Amino acid sequence: MQEKILILDFGGQYNQLIARRVRDQHVYCELKPYSTGMEEIRAFDAAGIIFTGGPNSVYDESAPHVNPAIFALGVPILGICYGCQLMAQQLGGQVSPAQSDTAREYGKTPTHYDTACRLFAGLAEESVSWMSHGDYISKLPDGFTACAHSTACPTAAICDEARGFYGVQFHPEVAHTEQGAEMLRNFLYNVCGVSGDWSMGSYKDSAIASIREKVGNRRVLLALSGGVDSSVCAALLAEAVGSQLTCVFVDHGLLRKDEGDEVMAAFARWDIRLIRVNAQERFLARLAGVTEPEEKRKRIGEEFIRVFEEVGKQLGAVDFLAQGTIYPDVIESGKGDAAVIKSHHNVGGLPDFVDFKEIIEPLRLLFKDEVRALGRELGLPDYLVNRQPFPGPGLAIRVLGEVTEEKLVTLREADAVFREEIARAGLSGAVNQYFAVLTDARSVGVMGDGRTYDRVLALRAVTTDDFMTADWARIPYEVLDRASSRIVNEVSGVNRVVYDITAKPPGTVEWE
Ligand code: XMP
Repeated sequence: MQEKILILDFGGQYNQLIARRVRDQHVYCELKPYSTGMEEIRAFDAAGIIFTGGPNSVYDESAPHVNPAIFALGVPILGICYGCQLMAQQLGGQVSPAQSDTAREYGKTPTHYDTACRLFAGLAEESVSWMSHGDYISKLPDGFTACAHSTACPTAAICDEARGFYGVQFHPEVAHTEQGAEMLRNFLYNVCGVSGDWSMGSYKDSAIASIREKVGNRRVLLALSGGVDSSVCAALLAEAVGSQLTCVFVDHGLLRKDEGDEVMAAFARWDIRLIRVNAQERFLARLAGVTEPEEKRKRIGEEFIRVFEEVGKQLGAVDFLAQGTIYPDVIESGKGDAAVIKSHHNVGGLPDFVDFKEIIEPLRLLFKDEVRALGRELGLPDYLVNRQPFPGPGLAIRVLGEVTEEKLVTLREADAVFREEIARAGLSGAVNQYFAVLTDARSVGVMGDGRTYDRVLALRAVTTDDFMTADWARIPYEVLDRASSRIVNEVSGVNRVVYDITAKPPGTVEWE
């Protein structure tokens, strides 16, 4: 039996981060909406429960509450920010709006902790915490004491040690709270009494067992793109139900150098049916004469579906369609009260042309770095597991203007050189996405004693947390210099290299 922490989501912006931090401590957790029913909560059998922050004030008419029965479960609870105020209020305390600006706290706040409290045991008594609240707890519920304070707030943390209830006004999950990780660890290990049994090795074993149980002797189909998520999903299924698994890898000819072969090689060791559809010509034909980026995307998407549909028909009905959906996709799609950030293509948009009975999503509860760790655990090579994001339309949106085979060859070679030089400089981990773009411009150059009139190639490298905004990477000049001179010398058709120094916004990561 695995130890589990239940995180009840009240719609705060850091809620995913809380889940990440708990898993960082080797404890399995799940984020569920605050409205989750008592039956489900009991069945979850948590070693501890965390209430997240949220945008509401507990006074709001529509303020979310929990079923009071949760306090009678005999399970320790940690309330964070709104979660802390909610617990105080529901247990008979009082929450009041801060009277003055000084009592409201936003940002880094020097805080004093009572280290006799189990939550703060072993910590320094003074350190900075990250606050963000306009209300404060003005009267403690019965059984509670204040166990941390700041200049403005006498109840920066509250506790009822006998029942194992703790509340913090600040956010221990954000990096600005200096001892936040230790506090969470104290809650998990000292209060909830977990031993820390969450590891990728144990997850792998239990995931394989549950896939085997669910699938039995039936058939599974997976569209393998070569991206991290679908590759790890394929490896996990291969390990679990290898001979019943069919993977379809559509090679649209818009991949980077050697990518198609690498994907095939990575799966050679499993006894699975792996179908590589060499559809390069079909895609090129569909792209002939097309220069508008959105039209390229549309045609590639349509052609992809057509190819997959044809393969699906040949295969006949399958029992399961597998997808590499990961946890952030699930959460972002509007679980809990958090605003819908984007509707990810993996969730909700199932292909309706494949004849299948059920969907299977074995990575549904994993974060991206956990997916990578699982991939390593399954023996996938580093080049697949650590792969940077690569857009579905592939090189078609990095060849500006019309896509032709000749341009693709040029771009692939130049891109490979750039990637090699980034890797050689040890920058692969520091830069989040980097690639070459073949522009439609030509420029005059001189090579040897002769005039050249060739293409301009752009190098793009960005640093970013979420790809919604990005900055251009400050790559050392020497690295750019080596990449540039190698490309001009080794790649025919390119005689000038430029480096893109545009942030997003106003630029985007890709050029098209
Ligand atoms: P942009 O160019 O929008 O890119 O700043 C942000 C991130 O999204 C990737 N990207 C795509 N991924 N299909 C995809 O699957 C697309 O059409 C697409 N366009 C951009 C881009 O590589 C970057 O990681």
